[in-house]
Amino acid sequence: MVEANTYVVFGATGNLSLTKLMPAFYHLECVGRLPEDMRIVAIGRRDWQQADWQAEIQKYIEPIARGGFDRQVFDAFVKRMDYVQMDISQPEAYEMLAETLADAKYSSKIAFYLSLGPDLFGQVTAELKAHGLLDETKGWRRVVLEKPFGYDVESAAALQNKISQALTEEQTYRIDHYLGKGMVQNVMVFRFANALMEPLWNRNTIDHIQITHAEDKPVGTRAGYYDQSGALRDMIQSHLLQLLALVAMEPPASMGAESLRDEKVKLLKSIRPIQKKQVKGHAYRAQYSEGFVHDNPVHSYLDEPSVATDSVTETYAALKLYIDNWRWEGVPFYIQTGKNMKESKTLVSICFKHPPKQFFRDSQVKKMEPNWIIFGIQPDESIKIEMIAKQPGLEINTEQISLDAAMKYDKNSKIDAYEELLLDVIKGDRSLFLRFDEVKAAWNVVDPILTEWASQTDYIDTYPSGSWGPEGSQKLFEHPEQYWRTYINQHCKE
Ligand code: BG6
Repeated sequence: MVEANTYVVFGATGNLSLTKLMPAFYHLECVGRLPEDMRIVAIGRRDWQQADWQAEIQKYIEPIARGGFDRQVFDAFVKRMDYVQMDISQPEAYEMLAETLADAKYSSKIAFYLSLGPDLFGQVTAELKAHGLLDETKGWRRVVLEKPFGYDVESAAALQNKISQALTEEQTYRIDHYLGKGMVQNVMVFRFANALMEPLWNRNTIDHIQITHAEDKPVGTRAGYYDQSGALRDMIQSHLLQLLALVAMEPPASMGAESLRDEKVKLLKSIRPIQKKQVKGHAYRAQYSEGFVHDNPVHSYLDEPSVATDSVTETYAALKLYIDNWRWEGVPFYIQTGKNMKESKTLVSICFKHPPKQFFRDSQVKKMEPNWIIFGIQPDESIKIEMIAKQPGLEINTEQISLDAAMKYDKNSKIDAYEELLLDVIKGDRSLFLRFDEVKAAWNVVDPILTEWASQTDYIDTYPSGSWGPEGSQKLFEHPEQYWRTYINQHCKE
């Protein structure tokens, strides 16, 4: 059990807090993982009473509560909460906050969760410091910063410069919720806990590796933010490069925060920089046009409210990357992500090389699929290994067999990434949070592409909503036998 503490959530009435953080706290309450005396201070701009706040979070929690909504647990949960109205742009407001938190009912071990836009991080951390709220004399003080950390490498460095005037690195928890996902961690465990895998995990046996993150939803109410961001910034710079780092990094000296992050940084820094003139061959972008998602008609990105009518913001992005180290020399890594695609699904697929074919030259075997290992990250958590075996019978005919492991049978036992990460903050475990050099290295990978794309404002390719993305992204593949693997099971192949 972790020690008593106080969680202060800035931006508590915002979307992330209502859809992710509050449900995560509630679920931790359900399983008795919140320390008995822990309190949660929800900070919002709205002039709300405690009852308004409670009604609001119930609206979000009730429909998604795992195993059904538990009124008794919810009542206990809201008893921990205090809604505090505050205008965070006003320095006096922090004085009031400091007075509130000085009350004996609050532990002096405090985590501040900034569920705010990055443009506010500098100001809020400076005010917290100015009002003594980051002083650790009486107990630890930690600050959680939501993504995106900056807009490009330059703004990320400027942001880091600002926050470091208020916070030490030990107090800083830069969140990437993908690292809290069970299957993302499983990629690491599968690699490093199985002696079978390590000798295979390199350029000698692997043809290429691909990561697909597809969503069957449009940008929705976040169009204002998204139109300034795009898929490359929103998903690839953060979540998908982190995933790639875990798939490809060297074994860390330990699972400790620094060892793990050292290896991820090393990997991200080894990604071959894409020069301006290479962008075309290494990156592809597109935007969803109208179409049908799960048979329902949907409109195009340009018809979304808050999207500029001539926007060339990409809702789909794909990259081909190479990692310049001994292990991965010459192995392409393909990454793609998109909104309004056919299904919601995240897969990491490892495609192995073809075995020498002349061994089968006098047999009936015509074409053999290569071996694949597929990690289903979400929605179904699974690991699948595909191999070739001989079909029963007199001739040598082959068939594909597979070893399947479904990691989660029961959707009620599924844990949301935020639950783990919220707990890690109060435990002081930073291994699943990002260090600034990691963030910077990831920006360095995507920055040249962002710059090139920003200069091309007159055209963007489109893909029909409800499809698996634009045909044009196929051109990233090194040879015609490579293709986007968007299914786990062969019978779902399309
Ligand atoms: C967020 C992005 O960080 O991750 C969203 O801003 C995206 O655009 C989301 O939809 C995906 O997260 P998950 O956990 O639903 O795969």
